[in-house]
Amino acid sequence: MLPFSLAVSLACIAAVAASPFNSTAVTPPRKIGKRCTGTIESLADVAAAQECTTINIAGFTVPAGQTFAISAPDGAVISMTGQITFPFAAWAGPLMKISGNNLVFNGNNHNLDGQGASYWDGMGGNGGVEKPAPMVTLDMSGTFENVVVLNSPQRAIAINTNGLTVSGVTVNNAAGAAANSASAGKPAGANTDGFDVAASNIVIKNSVVTNQDDCLAINRGSNITFTGNSCTGGHGISVGSISSNTVVSGVTISNNVVTNNGNALRIKTDATATGSTVSNIVYSGNTATGITNFGVLIDQSYPSTLGTPGTGVVISGVTFSGTNKIAVGSTGHRVEVNCGSTSSCTGTWNFAGLTVTGGTGSTVKNAPVTGGSF
Ligand SMILES: *[C@@H]1O[C@H](CO)[C@@H](O)[C@H](O)[C@H]1NC(C)=O
Ligand SMILES: *[C@@H]1O[C@H](CO)[C@@H](O)[C@H](O)[C@H]1NC(C)=O
Repeated sequence: MLPFSLAVSLACIAAVAASPFNSTAVTPPRKIGKRCTGTIESLADVAAAQECTTINIAGFTVPAGQTFAISAPDGAVISMTGQITFPFAAWAGPLMKISGNNLVFNGNNHNLDGQGASYWDGMGGNGGVEKPAPMVTLDMSGTFENVVVLNSPQRAIAINTNGLTVSGVTVNNAAGAAANSASAGKPAGANTDGFDVAASNIVIKNSVVTNQDDCLAINRGSNITFTGNSCTGGHGISVGSISSNTVVSGVTISNNVVTNNGNALRIKTDATATGSTVSNIVYSGNTATGITNFGVLIDQSYPSTLGTPGTGVVISGVTFSGTNKIAVGSTGHRVEVNCGSTSSCTGTWNFAGLTVTGGTGSTVKNAPVTGGSF
């Protein structure tokens, strides 16, 4: 039989999971640690080490098909001292999961190597071999720094707990840009999102993503800052896609450099979604070059692009302040705004700080856009 307190906390977890809304982030249980140093050199070491407030992770290979999961005490300091390798297995994942409150995780620039090349077939999550995703689940608040996520099978890092600052992280899926024997001439890597955010009070800064999908995708949450990052090769910086009963508010996208992406800056909401809001999105100081599809795309018809837009996600307040400079390639569009109605795109849409050059012209449908040069 479970001790009473554990039974109660399990009941609480079940209650959270049953919530009809997806606006609630994962909240790790509180955990008081012991003042000791735990060292992890294999999965067998985790149980003892995760009782300690100092945890060192040495280089090792995780058995294929298993999650390297750490549930650390409140305030624990976790350091990597070597590379972690996750060998191939066709399964759901995640490959690594870190849970806890106010943790300090420092990768010391070591790799988490997902061995993506042994999965990639150009299909990502839409077919072919099953690919673990996300590669790394962060159910933690605190800081997550100086980690290299190398060759994720598909999505790289999922952020699910309020109050996390990520800095100096590299997502390196550059190798996925080339075709391989299974990808029929397409890039072998697919759906390799850099950061997927579903939580509030999040900062992602000074990080580098090279991939084949969104650099950042904000699925829900408020008070989210994405600043000083670089994004190469993927689909750009996205709010969305936004499904039903979801809130995104207070997003700042600043001082990022986007290079050779499909899109630079995008807000995408599901055509069929209802009961959702996206508000107060601010872009400043971003630059983008080599954009092949859209400089700025705000589209309420996802998963279509510039299809028939829905009206069930209200977008209010989109601001380009300071200077945002986007250079679109010859086949791309500068700015496309595709809203379902003037009541689903409302508030102030001040684009004065936006300059987009190159490509073909812009269309704004059902949105109160003012200012800007595009
Ligand atoms: C919430 O997320 C879960 C898992 O992604 C999904 O199955 C469920 O349909 C979502 N609920 C709502 C109301 O969107
Ligand atoms: C916004 O998030 C940051 C970073 O987590 C935090 O320091 C700040 O207090 C948050 N602001 C509000 C109003 O919650």
